[in-house]
Amino acid sequence: MTDELSQGGTVRPITLHGEPVLHGRCAEVTSFDEDLITLVKDMYVSMYAARGVGLAANQIGVGLRVFVVDCPDASGEHVVQHVVNPVLELPPLDDRVLDEDEEGCLSVPGPSAAVARPNAAVVRGVDVHGERVEIVGSGLLARCLQHESDHLEGMVYVDRLSKRVRKRVLKEWIEGDFEDEDETL
Ligand code: NI
Repeated sequence: MTDELSQGGTVRPITLHGEPVLHGRCAEVTSFDEDLITLVKDMYVSMYAARGVGLAANQIGVGLRVFVVDCPDASGEHVVQHVVNPVLELPPLDDRVLDEDEEGCLSVPGPSAAVARPNAAVVRGVDVHGERVEIVGSGLLARCLQHESDHLEGMVYVDRLSKRVRKRVLKEWIEGDFEDEDETL
């Protein structure tokens, strides 16, 4: 699966935890114009440059409801897709299986921590042309869809950790005390 917008953009700096754009709700996209296409292209190449598998627009400083993924699902197939104004849907509470696994974030580069999340998720939204898009996520992709949707709500994964673990993660990031990760959201 490919996305024609996944090439040709310009790498932009990744915004870091603490920058206000990461800690507030992103705005709905209302203009489906050239600027939106440029944003999506820049998001892809910025994600690839940072070796991430997902990136939200506010991670390059733009507070709009857009994210991109290039992430394997449970079968190992990489889903490459951008989505504008995404809406996340999780399995009903009584049908929800939690998967606890290590999670990291390009905006808190380096460390990771275990986060329990539902092992399935669906995101519906539109593409840059306003055409409907649906991403069905399993495996790492299910985690990624939830992580990127959180970003658009102004939530970073460390906000989901206990105070003690959050302190450890932020300390490791600031002190640069971590092993290199290769699948970062
Ligand atoms: Ni992230």
